[in-house]
Amino acid sequence: MASILDKHKILEKNATLLLVGSLLVVSIGGIVEIAPLFYLQNTIEKVEGMRPYTPLELVGRNIYIREGCYLCHSQMIRPFRDEVERYGHYSLAAESMYDHPFQWGSKRTGPDLARVGGRYSNEWHVQHLSDPRAVVPESIMPKYAFLKTQDVTVKDVGMDLKANEDVGVPYSDDMLANAEADIKAQADPNADTTALLARYPKAKVGDFDGDPQKLTEMDALVAYLQMVGTLVDFSTYDDATGYR
Ligand code: HEC
Repeated sequence: MASILDKHKILEKNATLLLVGSLLVVSIGGIVEIAPLFYLQNTIEKVEGMRPYTPLELVGRNIYIREGCYLCHSQMIRPFRDEVERYGHYSLAAESMYDHPFQWGSKRTGPDLARVGGRYSNEWHVQHLSDPRAVVPESIMPKYAFLKTQDVTVKDVGMDLKANEDVGVPYSDDMLANAEADIKAQADPNADTTALLARYPKAKVGDFDGDPQKLTEMDALVAYLQMVGTLVDFSTYDDATGYR
């Protein structure tokens, strides 16, 4: 024992040797942690149900970012009992795999929104976004009533899908070619949505903002909110373990 400590003294008494020794140890640790990542195809486990966002949902997501909703809302349910009981199943990494940038957020002035899809009706969302105090009297959320009067610029949406495809979202040629048709069909209660739903399973269709004649930013934002957290079917997951 004493002899090992004696040998260690050599290192401790020589700054250069100690530095070289430390670097050696740190590099071994680093290689063990980092090298396997280069051999993995993907560090995110594939999860059934995840699909790229519909053109309308994508525009809604852009509005969510533009209006800074992430400054008050997170989209990340942590795997703790209190969070899971309040918001639902904890967030999976795969659930934000098509988010560029991700919307995990870092502050909750309002509640987490990772599972807000389907929790309220479209009418509730429109009323709440137009005047939060009309439905939640103590709310401090700002009003976003102007979204109802702003039209969505349909012709830009194809470029938006393409930009997402460039950074790795698997939009097919079919999806890219039909972006304009799909954005119109999703919010039109009279449209044939068969092709849209084949491309984007589980998309919510119909009028969102209460005005079927116009495609507004309110339509897009509500379509986005109604989708958030609903793509993965958690009814097939075990409540106790959280795993399939
Ligand atoms: C200044 C902070 C703030 C900003 C910015 C903000 N919110 Fe909120 N939000 C709140 C608060 C506080 C609540 C809780 C009270 C309420 O329901 O109004 C809330 C509640 C909500 C709810 C209801 C959630 C639930 O589970 O009950 C939704 C949906 C929502 N916000 C969406 C949005 C969207 C979309 C935006 C951006 C357009 C936004 N918020 C911007 C503070 C904010």
